[in-house]
Amino acid sequence: MLMDTFGRRAVDLRVSLTDRCNLRCSYCMPEEGLQWLAKSSLLTDDEVVRLVRVAVGLLGVTEVRFTGGEPLLRPGLVGIVTACAALEPRPELSVTTNAVGLARTAEALRAAGLDRVNVSLDTLDREAFHTLTRRDRLPDVIAGLAAADAAGLRPVKINTVLMRGVNDHEAADLLDWCLARGYELRFIEQMPLDAQHGWRRDSMVTAEEILDRLAARFELVPEPAAGRGAAPAERWTVAGHTAPDGQPARVGVIASVTRPFCRACDRTRLTADGQVRNCLFATGETDLRSALRAGADDEQLAGLWRAAMWGKKAGGGIDAPDFAQPERPMSAIGG
Ligand code: 5AD
Ligand code: SF4
Repeated sequence: MLMDTFGRRAVDLRVSLTDRCNLRCSYCMPEEGLQWLAKSSLLTDDEVVRLVRVAVGLLGVTEVRFTGGEPLLRPGLVGIVTACAALEPRPELSVTTNAVGLARTAEALRAAGLDRVNVSLDTLDREAFHTLTRRDRLPDVIAGLAAADAAGLRPVKINTVLMRGVNDHEAADLLDWCLARGYELRFIEQMPLDAQHGWRRDSMVTAEEILDRLAARFELVPEPAAGRGAAPAERWTVAGHTAPDGQPARVGVIASVTRPFCRACDRTRLTADGQVRNCLFATGETDLRSALRAGADDEQLAGLWRAAMWGKKAGGGIDAPDFAQPERPMSAIGG
C-alpha cells in the first residue's frame, strides 16, 4: 500500500505520458522556449506499463489516469491502455486531454478499455479560445467531445479554469452548454503551476465568485459533504436539470487554492521521465527510471515508491510564507 505519515492512502495514480502539447494555454505553457524532456529520459511504453503493473499489483492503486502535456500525442497510448486494462485487478482507466485529437481516437481508446475522459475546455468563444490557447482549435475540441460521448466514454467531464477578464464571464454559459449535452462540468481554481511563474493570488477567480456567477442563472443545491470522499470537487446539483443517467445534473467546483483538499488526497504521480511525485507541489522526486533501468525487480520498485509516498507532506503549502512553485511546470507533471 502507498501510505503516508498522515494516514492517507494513495489509490489514484496520475501518469504523465509526455510533456508536449499541441496547445499553449497561457496558465500552463509559455508561447515558446519551454525546454522539453530529453527523448532518452522518457519511459518507453513497456516501462510505463511495468510501473503501472507494480502500482496496481503490489501497491493497491485502483485508478489510473493518463495525463500530459497532452496524452493523445503519445503514439503508444492505445497500446498502453490495452495493456493496463489487462492488469489484475483491473484498474479504472481515464485520460485527461484537451480533446484536440479525440475525434480520431475515441473509438479506439474505448475499444482498448478506456473508461472515461476529462476534457479541458475554458471557453466556447473561438476567438477567446485562440487567444487563451494560442491555437485556433475550438472546433476540434467540440468534435472530440462529441466523439467521446458517442464512443461511450461517459460521463464526459469537462475541466474549466476561469481567468479574470478572459473567460470569467462565461461560467454560466459553459454550464448551460454542458447541461444541454449531458457533460459534467467542473471549475478548477487556477493554481501556481504555470511555467512562466505569473500566477497571482489576487487575480485568481475564486470558487466563491464562480458560485456567485452560476447562482445568477441556476439554482444550485449542495451535495452532502460526506459523499465527497477524496474527490476534490465539491459538487452541486443543478435544480431542474437531469443528467443522461437519469440522476440530477451536477456541477463541481475544485477550490484547490481557497479550500485545498490535501487532507483527503489519495493521489500519487508518475512523470513521463519516470519520477514519482507525492504531491503536485512537491519539490523533490523519486527516480524510478534509473532504478528500473539498473535492473531493479518489481519488489524493489514498489519499495522505492512506498518510501516516496511515506515522505508526503501534509499539504501543498501554497499558503506558507516560504512557498516556492515546483520547478516542473504543470505540463511536465500532469493534472
Ligand atoms: N491551475 C489549475 N488547473 C490547471 N490546469 C493546467 N494548469 C493549471 C493551473 N495552473 C488544468 C488544465 C487541465 C488539467 C490537467 O489541469 O486545464 O484541465
Ligand atoms: Fe496543453 Fe493542457 Fe497545458 Fe493547455 S493546460 S497547454 S492543453 S497541457
